[in-house]
Amino acid sequence: MLPISILSTQQRRIRSELGRLDVLINNAGISHAGEPGRKLEEVGKSGKPSVASIEEVRTVFETNVFGVIAVTQAMLPVLRKAPTARIVNVSSGSGSLTLNADPNNSHREMFGVVYSPSKTALNAITLAFAIELESTGIKVNAVCPGFTATDLNNFEGTGTVQQAARHPVPCSS
Ligand SMILES: NC(=O)c1ccc[n+]([C@@H]2O[C@H](COP(=O)([O-])OP(=O)(O)OC[C@H]3O[C@@H](n4cnc5c(N)ncnc54)[C@H](OP(=O)(O)O)[C@@H]3O)[C@@H](O)[C@H]2O)c1
Repeated sequence: MLPISILSTQQRRIRSELGRLDVLINNAGISHAGEPGRKLEEVGKSGKPSVASIEEVRTVFETNVFGVIAVTQAMLPVLRKAPTARIVNVSSGSGSLTLNADPNNSHREMFGVVYSPSKTALNAITLAFAIELESTGIKVNAVCPGFTATDLNNFEGTGTVQQAARHPVPCSS
């Protein structure tokens, strides 16, 4: 996560150069904090509740959860300057408690204590911001881009980045 001082500098720069921020898309995220290039299966195994490294859980939450709170708080002054600002948090179906509680969900084996619960927490944070900002006209939504071939999953995803990028658009307009 960027240090708070850098976030404030960015916010001031947006304010002085553009006057306002219409859309904030919190896209940054990590799936693990181990060696780069690990296969998804390996990441899934090391994220199991019984063996996961607490340090790795902390690192992933730092970016996926605390980072979103910090960036959103830092950008709120310039979002408030826009007439109908939008905040879109890029979350994941893998964080859904409803989907993962369903025994028929074949992907629930990947629900460990590292990445998936960070997205569960992100969903909760999205709701918390949406509730607080309800009366301001700033809408806050979470989206899932789908299982996309990126660095995040060792390019094992099945969708393209172009397809994934369409998901935040309706929430941003
Ligand atoms: N790919 C999927 O199947 C999938 C599915 C559901 C949800 N998502 C979500 O989609 C979002 C984008 O992921 P992606 O698949 O595009 O992965 P990606 O290719 O690995 O991109 C992640 C991006 O986040 C940035 N980032 C990571 N940690 C950061 C930090 N601490 N501070 C600032 N930037 C940071 C990375 O910057 P650097 O390159 O500079 O490190 C990179 O640009 C994530 O929130 C992810 O959880 C992805």
